[in-house]
Amino acid sequence: MSIMKSIDPNKLTPKDTYRLLTRVLVPRPIAFVSTLSEDGTLNGAPFSFFNLVSSTPPLLSVAVNRPDEAFKDTSRNIRERGEFVVHLVDLDNVEAINETAANLPSDESEIERSGLTPTPSEVIGVDAIKESPIRFECTLKHAIPLENHGRVQGDLFIGKIERIHLNEEIDKGKDPKLVARLGGEEYAEIGKTFTLRRPK
Ligand SMILES: Cc1cc2nc3c(=O)[nH]c(=O)nc-3n(C[C@H](O)[C@H](O)[C@H](O)COP(=O)(O)O)c2cc1C
Repeated sequence: MSIMKSIDPNKLTPKDTYRLLTRVLVPRPIAFVSTLSEDGTLNGAPFSFFNLVSSTPPLLSVAVNRPDEAFKDTSRNIRERGEFVVHLVDLDNVEAINETAANLPSDESEIERSGLTPTPSEVIGVDAIKESPIRFECTLKHAIPLENHGRVQGDLFIGKIERIHLNEEIDKGKDPKLVARLGGEEYAEIGKTFTLRRPK
């Protein structure tokens, strides 16, 4: 048995807590989230504090931090409009999507700058991008402020999936080539898989 170390996250700096947790809680799927600002700018950014919450009802979650207690454009737009599109990230689009993580002023579109192609959504007023093989049109169900030592340092958004868009090959059963986030600036592809039968 290896020796276990006990760490109190309250005694780590926020940076060290982030580094440790994001290095060990892997792999994390990546959501590329498009939102619309009040002035009509289509905003896009990647988020790996992201997962499926429930299939009935179909819910997903994205957590966005508030650096120095200020909203990122994604948070402000989700709170104001109550709508957003979550795209999954694959080997073909990961580099363009990484470009969108640049910190641009809220009236500049990261989507335009990264050469991604906007396309209208079916049931919400926020455009999607064409480059992702899987996307979900979402409406906001819950916005939970994340408090730490008396300060709100992030928001957990739970979105209801109103439409699922898949490219035809994936719809017919082909596996998507999705990528996941590891620690630091590392990413992973899905590696070796295996089957395990569940006991009856
Ligand atoms: C792969 C990847 C994953 C990220 N995950 C998160 C995350 O889960 N939460 C977060 O607040 N920021 C995350 N970021 C940083 C945001 O994408 C970045 O702050 C972005 O500029 C926010 O854009 P906005 O101001 O347009 O909302 C991530 C960045 C990358 C490249």
